[in-house]
Amino acid sequence: MPLPLLRSLQTGRRWRPGPVLRPAVLAAGLAATLLHSGHLAAQAAPAAPRPTQAVQARAGMVVSASAIASQVGRDVLAAGGNAIDAAIATGFALAVTYPTAGNIGGGGFMVVRFPDGRATTIDFRERAPAASRPHMFTDSSGAYSARLHHNSHVSVGVPGTVAGFELAHRKYGRMAWRGLVAPSAALADTGFVVPTGLAASLAGVRNKLGQYEASKAAYYKPDGAPYAAGERLVLRDLGQTLGRIRDAGRDGFYRGTTARLLAAEMQRHGGLITEEDLARYEAAEREPVRGTFMGYDIISMPPPSSGGVAMIEMLNILEGLPLKSQKPDSPQYLHWLAESMRRAFRDRAVHLGDPDFNAIPVAELTGKDYAATLRAGIVADKASVSSPADVRQGYESDETTHYSVVDKDGMAVSVTYTLEAGYGLGAVVDGAGFLLNNEMGDFNGKPGLTDSTGLIGTAPNVAAPGKRMLSSMTPTIVARDGQLVAVVGSPGGRTIINTVMQVVLNLIAFDMPVQQAVNAPRVHHQWLPDRLTVEREGFAPATLDALRAMGHEVRVGGQQGTAHSIAIDRKTGARLGAADPRDRDAGAAGHN
Ligand code: GLY
Repeated sequence: MPLPLLRSLQTGRRWRPGPVLRPAVLAAGLAATLLHSGHLAAQAAPAAPRPTQAVQARAGMVVSASAIASQVGRDVLAAGGNAIDAAIATGFALAVTYPTAGNIGGGGFMVVRFPDGRATTIDFRERAPAASRPHMFTDSSGAYSARLHHNSHVSVGVPGTVAGFELAHRKYGRMAWRGLVAPSAALADTGFVVPTGLAASLAGVRNKLGQYEASKAAYYKPDGAPYAAGERLVLRDLGQTLGRIRDAGRDGFYRGTTARLLAAEMQRHGGLITEEDLARYEAAEREPVRGTFMGYDIISMPPPSSGGVAMIEMLNILEGLPLKSQKPDSPQYLHWLAESMRRAFRDRAVHLGDPDFNAIPVAELTGKDYAATLRAGIVADKASVSSPADVRQGYESDETTHYSVVDKDGMAVSVTYTLEAGYGLGAVVDGAGFLLNNEMGDFNGKPGLTDSTGLIGTAPNVAAPGKRMLSSMTPTIVARDGQLVAVVGSPGGRTIINTVMQVVLNLIAFDMPVQQAVNAPRVHHQWLPDRLTVEREGFAPATLDALRAMGHEVRVGGQQGTAHSIAIDRKTGARLGAADPRDRDAGAAGHN
């Protein structure tokens, strides 16, 4: 269909949990792995110089926001698991050690590339409970309520993570399920040493989590004080729930004790999720969205993520510009980025939502012809104007997490999953120990309500029973000539798409080594509001002045995303793990 142009422009082999279950040994193993690579010092303090070298390994690699979780995944690889097994084990471990976004109470996406070049994706995005209605985020007077939308048990979607991991394991895993969950159940039950970033993070969200007795009891000391770095955090209820998942698979979450506890939590707090909603939840396997950029294959997440479509649209626009004539921090290049972002984010708002509920023109949006039309509207030295009459977009949280896995056979897994806001709703399910998402906030607030505060009311992403809310998560895999090149992704709400694209551009257009590609400063434009946000560290004042002279409103912001990535050394085949130094507790763990 023609698209309207811009107005203004897994063997059942039994695995026994190894010494990783004992926290002291785990810590020593981690220290050895990370110190050997020089990586630990680089992560310990945010002000330390950024690492310039990726962690190298011959066989497998896991990079995540939590060095402890990366080690759990790495140990699964070393025990003979494939990348799917390691991704599942890492995901469960993050639910213990990285409660900001690691989860069993949320959802996300997994992109998989097999050693023979085939690829697939697993969609385990949360779904709206059966009682959901388009106007569910309005109060008794019919007015839109941000509290209902983002900060109430009504904002909780039916969690997808356990079902997604179970589906991925059933179809493609190699090791026994038990062994993938057992390390995390043990980690929660016996506790782990609180790392620097988590200590600071928990101290910062005391008021939010303090609203809920079960959250206070789980994450703070009996007197309400936060745990300091180096102290041990034990999460017994979470350990019990993970134990049920270890023993009963998805039924350990979606039926029985866990489901009853979750449904009771909903009833106490006016939420909508029932035991039936939980029993009915299904993850979906979907075809990846694909594009090409400068001879490389881009494999990413299709709707209900907007990420893959928007990124490929932008890469197609940029491919027709002389990128290699520019430096990655030149005003001209940053102008081209901004103009491509502006156009793709407008299309995101207009066209994207749950593909089970909408006809989405994926092929058209990701086509080279459409990109050429958009490119023709870019003026070399003048910013376009995003028309206020065009669609505006709502709030989306920055708090999500991404991790990357490659195994010895070259299977690659790229996972981004989330609770939506940091710690989701902030509510731990009483008796079950896990945090609830507030992902329903990614639906539009009220049908037809599109206003200057940034609300959007367009039809494709309005809440409905069983529907999945639109996401920006962009887990991505890059290949060339049948060979795996890189595994990339990031958290960051709508900035995710732009962060992942810039890492891909740094790798391909600017031939940067992966750690440099991850460390490099980033920019973000999302159509509306009409401004270019740049990371505080990395851009010269003269560059920002030149962008302003072109008509861009430039805003200097904080850090943008944490893109824990892996690249494959073209000559040696080594796995190069690049933890993003923007995440203080992150780590790359390799296996030879
Ligand atoms: N909740 C953030 C996203 O799905 O993009």
